Amino acid sequence: MAEYGPEKKITIAHISDIHVGSNHFVSNLLNRAIIEINELEPDIVLVSGDLTNEGFRQEYSAVSAYLENLKCERVLVIPGNHDSRNVGYVHFEDLFGSRNSAVHLPGVTIVALDSSQPDLNEGRLGRQNYRWMVEKFSEPHDFKIVALHHHLLPLPGTGRERNIIEDAGDFLELMVNQGVDLALSGHKHVPHTWRFEDFYVSNAGTVSSLRVRGYARPCYGIIEIDPDLCSIKRKYPFGESVDVVSFATVREKKPHNPEGHPDRLVK
Ligand SMILES: [Fe+2]
Ligand SMILES: [Fe+2]
Repeated sequence: MAEYGPEKKITIAHISDIHVGSNHFVSNLLNRAIIEINELEPDIVLVSGDLTNEGFRQEYSAVSAYLENLKCERVLVIPGNHDSRNVGYVHFEDLFGSRNSAVHLPGVTIVALDSSQPDLNEGRLGRQNYRWMVEKFSEPHDFKIVALHHHLLPLPGTGRERNIIEDAGDFLELMVNQGVDLALSGHKHVPHTWRFEDFYVSNAGTVSSLRVRGYARPCYGIIEIDPDLCSIKRKYPFGESVDVVSFATVREKKPHNPEGHPDRLVK
């Protein structure tokens, strides 16, 4: 067992904001991304929400049929705000199971959390999800990844900020204290990666919607974690791949502090 992080390379394909049912959805882009991902043979495919546009049953059936073409055995799916419209979460649970899920691979744990609320665009995690996440991060030396639909930090080029999760401050502090290494999200259809404290927060663009801002193009993320390095790439369906960031998998982290940050107001 490696002292920290994965023993061998683990690859994650991260797609988000498919939006089947929207006028802006382009099936060719999704089909192409699925072909490329099948060729990549990742260990995990993460689908971080907004699979549908209105949460309707027929949209869920359609997106599920597309995703069945993924050859990867571990497909981790969480709902987005659009999927929780019109009581869409019942169809989500029928087709994809629990709205929260976790995957353990040797040296890597991914916890995927539902940040959506019925019929609201705003995202929220809440304390019940905090407890569940802490339970799932039971291996202190694992490379720890959190996935959620809504973004955790404001993104450039997106105008007025409205939809970072309502409890972003508390959740970011929890992530620092838990020694999380990477957060993966979607929602804004804008790819961007920030470094925050000791970890990275990487937002995927939309894989198959033309509802984008400015010159942004549909894309998805490829994350490779090996015993030394984690690298994040952006891949455009039919197009090129771009290196976004690489960082050391083994890093000196601030010691875990159960009391929280010294600035903490709420004990
Ligand atoms: Fe979206
Ligand atoms: Fe969204």
